[in-house]
Amino acid sequence: MADKKHQAPKVEPFINWSRVPRNYIWAAIILANFSLVPLSVVYAHRNLHWRQPRPSIIPDMDNQYRWNPQQYNPDFADGRVMRSWPDGTIPVGMLREDDHYYRGTVGDKFVTSFPDEIQISEALIDRGQDRYNIYCSVCHGEAGYGDGMVEKRASELMLSGNHRGMSWVTPLSYHSDELRNRPVGHIFNTITNGIRTMPSYKSQIPVEDRWAIVAYIRTLQASQWTPVTDVDQEHRDNLIKQIEANRSAAPPVEQAAPDTAADGGDAAEGTAAEGDAPAGDAQPDTANQAEADGGNG
Ligand code: HEC
Repeated sequence: MADKKHQAPKVEPFINWSRVPRNYIWAAIILANFSLVPLSVVYAHRNLHWRQPRPSIIPDMDNQYRWNPQQYNPDFADGRVMRSWPDGTIPVGMLREDDHYYRGTVGDKFVTSFPDEIQISEALIDRGQDRYNIYCSVCHGEAGYGDGMVEKRASELMLSGNHRGMSWVTPLSYHSDELRNRPVGHIFNTITNGIRTMPSYKSQIPVEDRWAIVAYIRTLQASQWTPVTDVDQEHRDNLIKQIEANRSAAPPVEQAAPDTAADGGDAAEGTAAEGDAPAGDAQPDTANQAEADGGNG
């Protein structure tokens, strides 16, 4: 017994694994694994792409209830989220009561003069040309004869029969008596509201630019239809000299004439047009007009 007393005390391990129940060990391993879940969630939210916004632990009004455009909202009888203005109200700055400027009319007549807000200047006409070439020339052609790219392509498709049941109306040429006599307000209205088969351009072209385009159309018309008597004497003399120079430089007209008559050859016709247009007696554009008007039926 005595030796037993003098034996060094047996050091117990801090945890005696053999005495820990098995279940505890398994539970600890499983818990340790689960503790990785929050970390991996954080990792995933930081590094992967999600359709949903990231969860925010302190939201601070980051996300709020709202409607998106075009959504359905059952709270309204018509179900539209996008509400129209109540009848009789006008948004600030949109009281467009100046008919002359905003509609090209006075009373129930189209105006024949430009509104006071529009100062005719070279800058305005340049602006008009710029806008015209963007929005109108595709159909009406850069010179306004109704022969733009869209017209050419569409006519080609109509002729080839490859039009998939659609129809095409040739854009009108501006160089007819009818169009030359249209009041400016009428042309303005055509841009604003469209006419017959031509669509409206009011959502693309602001009011001031519409007037600029009208001014440019008038310029185009004048460029193709000004009697020589409108040209002042000094310039008229120069013009006549130029025309004569062109005539003598061009191949004799007599020779070209039969061809021209037969197939409307552009070259000879072009020369004649250049020569005669300012004199006001030739009608270089009647052929085109006839085509355009005829096309409209
Ligand atoms: C998509 C082709 C197209 C474009 C682009 C187009 N037009 Fe037209 N336009 C037409 C057609 C087609 C007509 C003839 C409509 C008809 O007779 O049914 C026409 C007719 C007109 C007329 C004559 C209307 C009348 O009888 O007094 C004017 C003026 C006119 N367009 C101006 C414009 C201006 C200005 C623009 C540019 C802002 C423009 N158009 C852009 C196709 C077009």
